[in-house]
Amino acid sequence: MQEKIKVGIIGFGFMGTTHYGVYLHHPLAQVVAMADVDSRKRSGDISAVCGNIRGGDNSKPLDFSKIKTYADGMELIRDQEVDLVDICVPVYMHKQYALAAIKAGKHVLCEKPMARTSTDAAEIAVAASKSDKVVMAGMCVRFWPEYAHAAELIKSGRAGKVRSATFKRVSPDINGNGWENWFMKSELSGGAILDLHLHDADFVRYVFGMPKTVSAFGVKGVRSDNGIDHVMARYDYGDGALITAEGGWDAGRGTPFEMSFQVVCDKMTIRLSETGYKVIHADGKVECPQVGSPEQPTGWHQEIDHLLKSIRSGRKPDMELDGVVEGIRLVEAEIKSIDNNKTVTI
Ligand SMILES: NC(=O)c1ccc[n+]([C@@H]2O[C@H](COP(=O)([O-])OP(=O)(O)OC[C@H]3O[C@@H](n4cnc5c(N)ncnc54)[C@H](O)[C@@H]3O)[C@@H](O)[C@H]2O)c1
Repeated sequence: MQEKIKVGIIGFGFMGTTHYGVYLHHPLAQVVAMADVDSRKRSGDISAVCGNIRGGDNSKPLDFSKIKTYADGMELIRDQEVDLVDICVPVYMHKQYALAAIKAGKHVLCEKPMARTSTDAAEIAVAASKSDKVVMAGMCVRFWPEYAHAAELIKSGRAGKVRSATFKRVSPDINGNGWENWFMKSELSGGAILDLHLHDADFVRYVFGMPKTVSAFGVKGVRSDNGIDHVMARYDYGDGALITAEGGWDAGRGTPFEMSFQVVCDKMTIRLSETGYKVIHADGKVECPQVGSPEQPTGWHQEIDHLLKSIRSGRKPDMELDGVVEGIRLVEAEIKSIDNNKTVTI
């Protein structure tokens, strides 16, 4: 039997615990270490962890008696047993751990946004390009079953010419959710436009390429200090198609989290909504494709499966980090558009 890939997770909040749950059930992985500055999390008490979308059950304490626990993520990176470092700390700390883990010759999964700025993300991408290990960013929406299916229909040309596309990601207020409330400190998190809406901006770039211009509108400081808490963006490709995305975390607590899209193409309309995932063909036939699987229902499962299989097979993962950097650059262009009330040429 082949040895399992030994995983160490830095940051055991919402994403760290979610990834942990995925690795626990994956036949290729074994979590051997975790690092967190919070001693309660190191003791296995994750009751304070919460997120805006379905994660795991945090009510029961985790048993860390068989894994190593570190207060310092750099110690985990130095741990010889760890093959794969999974970075789930707040975004403003990603760069230091990602660069250190790459330098230490580890495989790396770095949560999204890969870094706080596109310049920092580009530094990680350059370091990764010199490594013979697998380095991925947690752009889980590209792997989310409905999104991955839609991307394939569009990119392969099977859907036909794209006429309009709209993506939406709205979250209830998450004020108070993260460690030391870092999400609400826009210097640290980048606000909802970077932390949340990046998923859709990245997906737009991944599927349609970089637009020629972007025009965005936003509202600031509703929940966070002065970050963009809600954004609407239009991506112009100069081909007549109307491509937009909306995202925000300004809705009141208790508002259901929503991620949805509709892409209208000549041969089909592809739609994810509250009523499920549907492909509506030009002749009116409605198909409800079964995507994902009971074992791997979410993009987090699919992304980590892809990562582990890439490591095991030695194949490059289907994720160019330069493209991930471009996604952050696109969000930065949106921020510029909002701040200057102007269309920005990319
Ligand atoms: N892919 C997704 O769907 C998704 C969803 C939510 C969050 N995220 C991303 O995951 C990352 C973490 O977000 P989160 O929601 O888990 O935040 P969180 O605040 O819930 O968790 C952060 C954790 O990091 C720990 N920490 C802080 N400083 C540390 C340090 N120096 N060393 C070790 N641990 C440290 C905290 O104690 C906490 O447990 C962010 O980049 C966020 O944008 C991604």
